[in-house]
Amino acid sequence: MDYIGSASFEPKKVTTFRLQEMKKAGRKIVALTGYDALIARILDESGIDLILVGDSLGNVVQGLETTIPVTLDEIIYHTKAVVRGAKRPLIIADMPFMSFQVSADEAFTNAGRIMKETGCGGVKLEGASEIILQAIRRMTESGIPVMGHVGLTPQSIHKFGSYRARGKDPEEAESIFRDAANLEQAGVFAVVLEKIPANLAKRITETLKIPTIGIGAGPYCDGQILVYTDMLGLTIDFSPRFVRRYARLYDTILNAFKQYAEDVRNQNFPNESESYF
Ligand code: KIV
Repeated sequence: MDYIGSASFEPKKVTTFRLQEMKKAGRKIVALTGYDALIARILDESGIDLILVGDSLGNVVQGLETTIPVTLDEIIYHTKAVVRGAKRPLIIADMPFMSFQVSADEAFTNAGRIMKETGCGGVKLEGASEIILQAIRRMTESGIPVMGHVGLTPQSIHKFGSYRARGKDPEEAESIFRDAANLEQAGVFAVVLEKIPANLAKRITETLKIPTIGIGAGPYCDGQILVYTDMLGLTIDFSPRFVRRYARLYDTILNAFKQYAEDVRNQNFPNESESYF
C-alpha cells in the first residue's frame, strides 16, 4: 500500500530519512511531546510520527517556571522511558540548557551520552550561534541526527524577558530566516519553528530542503508539534492561541479523583467483588 498522500500512516519505523521523503511528498509530519512509557505507548498506537522528549518536561512534569534547570540526566531518564514505550515513532531528545552552549566538544560528548544511554533517534537543540553550528557539524559528521529550533527559544527566556511571538518585525524575521538556513547548512535533518508569523514559516518551509515542524507557526510548515499535556487539556493555566484542546482531561481526572475520595470516605470502595476473602 502506498501511504504517501493518504491520511493514514505507514506502519514501518519512522527515520530522519523518512521525514525528508514526507516533505517531498507533501505528507504532513505529526509530532507531539512525550515524557514517559505509558504516554509513549499511546502516542505510538495513535500513529504519531515523532515524539520529542522536550525540556518542556521541566514545566509540565517538574512544575518549574522555566526549562532552564532541566538537567542532562533528567532528559536521559525520561528519554529511556519513552524509548521503552514506543517502537514506530522517531524519538528525539531535547538537549537541556548549558549542555550544548559551552563548546562543540562538550555538546558532542553530551549528545553522544544521550544517544548511547537512551537508544533514541536523535537530539534537538535551540538556537543557531556559531558555537552551536560547530557543535551540529561535529555531531552530524559523526552520525548523530540533530533537529534545530528557532523563533521562540524558551531556554533564552532571561535574554528576551517574555514568551512573545518572534519575527514580527522585518529585522528579527530576517535573522530567524538566516538562522534556519544556517542550521540546514550545518546538517540538521529538520527544524522546529516556534511562535513565528505564518508567512515567515512559509518562506522558510519553501526555501529549505529539510522539513519544518511548527508550533504556533501557522499551517504552512511540513509538520506540527504540540506539548501533549496542552492539547489534552491537562495544563489549564496555559492557553496560547496556537494550542487546540482535543480533550479536557484536567476535568475528567479531577472528577475521577473526587469520586474516589467520596467512595472511600463513604465506605463505597472497595466492595465485595473488589476484595479477597
Ligand atoms: O521542549 C519542548 O517541548 C519543545 C517543543 C515545544 C518544540 O521544544
